[in-house]
Amino acid sequence: MRAVVLDRPGTVSRIEELVLDDPGPGEIRVRMAASGVCHSDLHVRDGEWQRPGPIVLGHEGAGIVEAVGAGVEHLREGQLVALSWYAPCHACSACRNGREWLCSGSPSLRHGLTDGTSRVHRSNGQALYSYLSIGTLAEASVVPGAAAVPMPDGTPPEVAALIGCCVATGVGAVTKTAEVAAGSTVAVIGLGGVGLSVVMGAVLAGAGRIIAVDQVQAKTERAIELGATETIVADGHPTAIADALRERTGDGPEFVFEAIGLPVTVGQAIAALPPGGTAVLVGMTAYGQRASFEVYPFVDGGRRILGSNYGSAVAAVDFPRYAELHLAGRLPIDRLVDRRIRLDQLEDAFDRMRAGEFVRQVVLPG
Ligand code: APR
Ligand code: ZN
Repeated sequence: MRAVVLDRPGTVSRIEELVLDDPGPGEIRVRMAASGVCHSDLHVRDGEWQRPGPIVLGHEGAGIVEAVGAGVEHLREGQLVALSWYAPCHACSACRNGREWLCSGSPSLRHGLTDGTSRVHRSNGQALYSYLSIGTLAEASVVPGAAAVPMPDGTPPEVAALIGCCVATGVGAVTKTAEVAAGSTVAVIGLGGVGLSVVMGAVLAGAGRIIAVDQVQAKTERAIELGATETIVADGHPTAIADALRERTGDGPEFVFEAIGLPVTVGQAIAALPPGGTAVLVGMTAYGQRASFEVYPFVDGGRRILGSNYGSAVAAVDFPRYAELHLAGRLPIDRLVDRRIRLDQLEDAFDRMRAGEFVRQVVLPG
């Protein structure tokens, strides 16, 4: 089968013909139907995040179950599954407390299967890692059974794929991590797949005002289509976003979501808050980056900063809910997809993402 392989972070990714073994106990093989290109793949591609190599890239995917290993009770052949990039171990204290997004025993931490090995290798026998244990930028992948969540009948594969990363991350940041109350004023900085999912989550939560911010005007227009009530096109000045948000709202938005992962916009999100306001940090920076804020007014005004990882997702519960909301017309996930490409176009997709073009490019491997 063909897959997108990165020999090590910071190098050019390439398509390779690889050998995929049958699933072992607790594992399944999935024929990939769709895989979104997420900025987290780009972080790895560009060497901002260190990961072992060689590795099959991709972590936002959905496909059809092709083979089920021994002991996997919740899946059967032919089902459409969305893949979680953080397979829970179901044994650590976080999992036992229902906080799977904080699992300390996930095989995804090692980019392999639960037993620490891999089912994907080169014809010379060399084993490859699989990004976050699911390596979705491939024609097929063997994944931990715990990573796969069956989708309701009628869910489009592209929608299922996006539920696996940007939708769970963005919608969950609003509804689960921050628990935004109806009527709240919300701002979202950064309108890629993640930030626009924050916008959709804010609509779902009944936010009163939703102010969408990006440096690319086309992204702000897309946010309006998805339910944002107003927009700001950022001009790159280091304090412009916070100034504009405070000017628009008097005091600042009660919730500011940062969905880029840049120290400067993290600082802006915090600086824009009114007393009692909450900054929700969703974007992931390169390793080692720091942000800063003025402490006295932050503490004096009882402000809060929340880190939101994977939208506090419990995949087996949340993924089908997001799919049902989509099917009911309340979560227009399909409108995030604005380019469909083949596996061999991934480097071009990364170039476009660096340039701020497109919301979600989706690879259709077939
Ligand atoms: N000011 C305003 N907008 C910016 C700026 C900036 N300085 N820099 C980038 N942006 C906008 C881009 O124009 C783009 O619309 O931020 C958006 C980022 O979107 P994507 O690159 O598509 O990223 P996405 O996949 O949505 O992920 C966002 O979340 O999970 C993390 O690792 C992921 O850190 C990444 C973040
Ligand atoms: Zn992602």
